[in-house]
Amino acid sequence: GKSFGVIADNTWKMEISLGERITFSSEGPAFRVIVIEKDSPQEVMKELGKLTGTIELPPIWSLGFHQCRYSYYPDERVKSLADTMRLKNIPCDVIWMDIDYMQDFKIFTFDSIHFPDPKETNDYLHKNDFKSVWMIDPGIKAEKGYFVYDSGEKINAWVQTRNDSVFLGKVWPGDCVFPDFTQSKVSKWWGGLYQNFMANGVDGVWNDMNEPAVFETEDWTMPDSNKHFGGENIKNDIHLRYHNVYGMMMVESSRKGIIKSNPEKRPFVLTRSNFLGGHRYAATWTGDNNSSMKHLKQSIPMSLNLSLSGQPFNGPDIGGFAGNATPELYAHWIALGAFYPFSRAHSTKGSINQEPWSFGEEVETVSREALQRRYRLLPYLYTLFWESANTGMPVMRPVFFNNPAEKYLRTEQENFLLGSDLLIVPKWSENGQIPSGNWRNVSINGEKSQNHKYHPDVLIRPGAIVPLCNPILSTNSFSLDTITLLVSLDTNLYAKGILYSDLGEGYGYQDGEFSLIEFYAETQNGITSLNTKTIDGNSIPNDTKINIKLILDSEVINLSGVIEESIVIKN
Ligand code: NOJ
Repeated sequence: GKSFGVIADNTWKMEISLGERITFSSEGPAFRVIVIEKDSPQEVMKELGKLTGTIELPPIWSLGFHQCRYSYYPDERVKSLADTMRLKNIPCDVIWMDIDYMQDFKIFTFDSIHFPDPKETNDYLHKNDFKSVWMIDPGIKAEKGYFVYDSGEKINAWVQTRNDSVFLGKVWPGDCVFPDFTQSKVSKWWGGLYQNFMANGVDGVWNDMNEPAVFETEDWTMPDSNKHFGGENIKNDIHLRYHNVYGMMMVESSRKGIIKSNPEKRPFVLTRSNFLGGHRYAATWTGDNNSSMKHLKQSIPMSLNLSLSGQPFNGPDIGGFAGNATPELYAHWIALGAFYPFSRAHSTKGSINQEPWSFGEEVETVSREALQRRYRLLPYLYTLFWESANTGMPVMRPVFFNNPAEKYLRTEQENFLLGSDLLIVPKWSENGQIPSGNWRNVSINGEKSQNHKYHPDVLIRPGAIVPLCNPILSTNSFSLDTITLLVSLDTNLYAKGILYSDLGEGYGYQDGEFSLIEFYAETQNGITSLNTKTIDGNSIPNDTKINIKLILDSEVINLSGVIEESIVIKN
């Protein structure tokens, strides 16, 4: 039951082998190895959070469902996608714009034919309760007269070759130059580029290809011998030293620029490349997967490992990126995908349509139900992100977190925990392990998962109270006027839950505009009743309606009341 974590504090190219011994071999100089030794994995994660910092609270819209493909264009297609989401009552918050929105793949520009008026496109999305995320890559077309190139050229912003010339590498627009983010002036200049871009009503930014990826090379990136200039606290050195942190430095610069552009809003950045500590700047997705059952299954250990490595806001491409999903695969993936910390469907150019309605009525229904489950869980999910922001605890957790002393849980990588109170059991899980105790199957939105072909079973921990909101289609309508509590008593007929809430956007929460409340179900003299206690911040209004679902082994007892009273739930 004792736990440890090991950090190799090193950015150079490195190999790690895990076995009886943990061996790091690096191509750079000697480096620090930090061992965190604690009594539980939770304590290890919290210590990691103290060393690296924790995430900032993301905007609540980023916890909704995201629909992406390479690429939705022209703008009319984006609008009709948004319309169809609403028409079909599929909960969704975000539509994504991949590289084809750009003019000739030039970052910070818009295609004059397909996206002539991005502000109008974003306005349309906003009117329909969507947000938009637009892609920005690090490769900048080397073209005189292009404002990004010209302004960077003026400050010598580019990574150089070993021979001190500007490095040129091919990416989408052809020959590109690459910002040297080790220089603070470059980072500032880069951040400044977001001002006019965000002014088009852009809500979030997707930083892709930031390993950095370079085409027509042996190892898909720039030469190890390329030169970075560094600055105050960053040494002048070769690319081999900075390759692994290039993506993180990019998203740090992006995030700072985005915050400057929209100081009242919480930024959202997604990155393909990141590093320990980079969770403070961007959510990370797992990159190009395949539309295959194998990759669906692998997404769980991948997301768990990212979570344990200090990247709580992560997830894979739902449906699979390369290849075509079958109806079956998509149904399994969206059903599970509702429970990733970052929930986004994405697919590549040339693949079949992979929207929730692309696979016939049955899969459309499964998608709607899956996403309804996610949206009803938002109070719980948002509280988990708040916990992560405060303590460094991951949102998605391996099952052994429930009880590290139960050794059989340690290798489990099909079932996983969402927070500490919900256990997700995929339908294809074969020998999935479940912690001991009376974990009860629970319905989130009236669905019956037990005999369902696709919906994972959701099991609630004995002793937990999980808060839900009413069904909504967008976080714009998120409200806690009515709270539903799933109550699962432990053997002492006791249960406890916590709920954090704030406006879901902006920084009012830093000035006390939030509420943190606890719910208790306690049994005295044979009567179980539910009570609420304000822990911090504002209390929630006294007339807040509370619906209680007491989850028993063979039935669910439904009750309701208002928050100020002590509600008797079992006699
Ligand atoms: C690579 C990314 O991994 C993928 O998600 C994206 O669609 C393409 N680049 C095109 O931008």
